[in-house]
Amino acid sequence: MARNLSKFVFFALLGFSCAFNDFGFTEEEVSAFTNPYVVTSVSQSSSSVYISAAYQAPAGEIDFLGAEQIIQSLSIVIQYDNAYRVRVTITDANNSGRWRVPDSIPPYSPTGPGTFYSLTPIVVGQPLSIKITRTTDNKVVFFLNPNQPFGYNDQDIGFANWLGYPIQVMGLGERISSFVLAQGSYTLYARDRGSPIDTGDTPDSNMYSAQPFYLAVDNQLAAHGGLFLNSNAMTSFVGSNFVGFRTTGGIIDFFLFIGPEPADVIYQYHQLIGNPTLVPWWGLGWHQCRWGMQNISVVANVSNSYTTYNLPLDAMWIDIDYMNQFQDFTLDPVNFPQASVSAWVAGLTKANKHFVPIVDAGIAQNTQYATYSAGLALNVYIASPNHAGPTTGVVWPGTAVFVDWTNPKATAFWTSQLTGFQTLAGFSGIWLDMNEASNFVNGEPNYPPTKITNLTMPYTPGQDVNMNSLDVASTHYGGVLEYNLHSMFGFYETFATFQYFSSQNLRPFIITRSSFVGTGRYAGKWTGDNFSQWSFMAYSITGLFDLGMFGIAFAGADICGFQGNTNEELCSRWMQLGTLYPFSRNHNQIMQVDQYPWSFGPTLLQTSNIAIRTKYSLLLHFATGMFRVSQNGGMHFRPAFFDYPNDINLLNNATSHFMLGEGLIVHPVLSPGLTRMSAYFPSDLWYDFYQGTYTQLNYYNTVNLNVTLPGPIPIHVRGGHIISTLDNSNTVLDAITLRKSPITLVVALNGAFQANGHAVFDNGVSASTISANEFTMVNYHYQYLNQTSDTLIIQPSVNGYTRPAGEFPYISNIIIYGCVEGVRNVFYSSNAYTGQLNPVFLLWNPTTSVCKINLSSSRVPVQPDVAATITINFYL
Ligand code: NOJ
Repeated sequence: MARNLSKFVFFALLGFSCAFNDFGFTEEEVSAFTNPYVVTSVSQSSSSVYISAAYQAPAGEIDFLGAEQIIQSLSIVIQYDNAYRVRVTITDANNSGRWRVPDSIPPYSPTGPGTFYSLTPIVVGQPLSIKITRTTDNKVVFFLNPNQPFGYNDQDIGFANWLGYPIQVMGLGERISSFVLAQGSYTLYARDRGSPIDTGDTPDSNMYSAQPFYLAVDNQLAAHGGLFLNSNAMTSFVGSNFVGFRTTGGIIDFFLFIGPEPADVIYQYHQLIGNPTLVPWWGLGWHQCRWGMQNISVVANVSNSYTTYNLPLDAMWIDIDYMNQFQDFTLDPVNFPQASVSAWVAGLTKANKHFVPIVDAGIAQNTQYATYSAGLALNVYIASPNHAGPTTGVVWPGTAVFVDWTNPKATAFWTSQLTGFQTLAGFSGIWLDMNEASNFVNGEPNYPPTKITNLTMPYTPGQDVNMNSLDVASTHYGGVLEYNLHSMFGFYETFATFQYFSSQNLRPFIITRSSFVGTGRYAGKWTGDNFSQWSFMAYSITGLFDLGMFGIAFAGADICGFQGNTNEELCSRWMQLGTLYPFSRNHNQIMQVDQYPWSFGPTLLQTSNIAIRTKYSLLLHFATGMFRVSQNGGMHFRPAFFDYPNDINLLNNATSHFMLGEGLIVHPVLSPGLTRMSAYFPSDLWYDFYQGTYTQLNYYNTVNLNVTLPGPIPIHVRGGHIISTLDNSNTVLDAITLRKSPITLVVALNGAFQANGHAVFDNGVSASTISANEFTMVNYHYQYLNQTSDTLIIQPSVNGYTRPAGEFPYISNIIIYGCVEGVRNVFYSSNAYTGQLNPVFLLWNPTTSVCKINLSSSRVPVQPDVAATITINFYL
């Protein structure tokens, strides 16, 4: 094709405010830099631009990367997927076989056809440069600047999205960091490491997952997002006005999400990677775990103590203690004999409680061990680069082998192991640990040195890629190197485990430690080995925000802390906060002090009881919020900044508060010794969740809250929202029994005497709930009718679920916050009945402006999911 670039050529002349050495170079080096590729052709179709580029050694200038393994010809496709997403792929024009993350992983499906040049016009320039502008505000949202580092070598690929205006960047996991990342470099590579604090200046502070997605917010608070879909060990660079990447393999596959609000970016991202999985109703309840419960009597003692102390419990977890010689799918015959375990699980099941055992990634290499032998016979293990047969590592059982999940036989092998284990142990959920995959040695034991090391690689992000990894020269199905697949082990393992549950139409209850792009479709995740320290309680909020952005909605941190001994005050505050994680589990390390709710004293015990029961009162709210996230994407547990994207204070102090859906804000107590706490609120009407009192904010939008212990965590309802709460939360001992609870609607009025809310009813277990429309989604809408009356409209849709008798039997109370007159009477109008409701009990507190309409004795029960209009008449 002739060189005809006139239509696209654009020579950028922009001034940059940022210090150039952000990308790891001196100012001289960067100012001397010119992209070493020249554009040789450009063409376009209705939804794509195609570019060819050739390497031209920059005479006398500085190459971004070394001279080794330079890819000579690049093939670039810029594809408009839809109105808000653009994909830029840059590949080796002469080698279509280079490793790349398969399109099935996100999973990619262009929702187009997208001819959206008008929304985001593209300009291609010489030497290679690409600029994409968001026309709604004329901002550049992607710029491959020809004068900024770019290189494309076999094992060293670097580029940056050079925006040219200041941004704040979030995401790029997994790590322990502030929510807004400090400028610096951040390693991405799955690694068993808990838990260094990453401030951007220590390259190897990467942890369990690789999540190369970022959200950027500029000074006008407009947002865009980027996914660098690449599984190789990499460094990401966060500058004042750019985000860059330098990776050790694969291709450049970059997805741009054009926003313009942070919440838009997250929806746009989830649209690509798939919405978070639904989890079972009981999974949203309360979980207890601990490493070092030596035998089944110790475990039973803990689960029984919950009943003794009148505390709810939904699942008991057992760590590696239960295994025979740390072999997956086995029980220790001495300490966890099968008869005792079965009897204990039967007792749990009878009490509507569940058992979740750990499963480790390493399979013990022991010819006497049935799982090992079965996998060997099927040849489903990752192969060694050093000898025939499986590659080995060292984990808890000693020498271990690892399933190659990309082998077509692997999933059937795994699900058959889980089926056998089900018979043995009667589990309800699975906890996938050590799946980075973790290795206590570097590469294969007895085979030093490993074949691909930082000595043979032109560039190493962080540590040697073999550090705590299988030998990266090990091979997967079809010869793909562990080097390329390492960070995806956990993703593939959750997928195989998900198949076990979904083949029985069960929602998965899977908690994984390692994750990759898209893991949330199959599993929840916890944040790994945190510390019993106040700062780590705050970091847990960042961790959950990040996981939510990455599409993993069902997330939690080890409550009260994992490493080091906790104390009563810290544990009490963490119980308050942690019970409002979507996934709420208390867990700690072997040798640390007990941290059960009864382990310290009355403060922790009472606070734990209040905290777990607060979650219970909100369980329908949680289930509804998580359902909506599974249906539409987005986040339930989320930064308040996402709901109020114009309030920069919320971003600056992102972990001081969080939202649970659009209607609730929570202010956790994150420091010791407090009985009162100043709390910042976004500008809005806020009512105390528990009492209904209106929250009078001062000039700075703050208010002092009483936070004495024992007591509840501060939660406030936003005016204009209706929250469904469950009455029996104060008495029941498990989430299943809680489903028999009547519902109290908390109606928090806005200035126009209006409020809206949702509740979703389904059976709480089926995987097919959304796809087969087996749910009922109810919209509650409260509005002003006239001077003397308001109405509450109950409007179900889909109607795919029929509640069994006794389940959420009726609406017992309507409690109105911001109620300025007493209620005189209440009328009900549905297909079944029209008339006054009787008897009802009416209370009005003029001091707090709270009206309580108690309908529980009404001869006509008000169904929570039957279309109706309730008319509320006031005195006056
Ligand atoms: C590491 C996990 O992160 C931790 O939660 C677990 O207790 C230990 N492995 C022991 O299995």
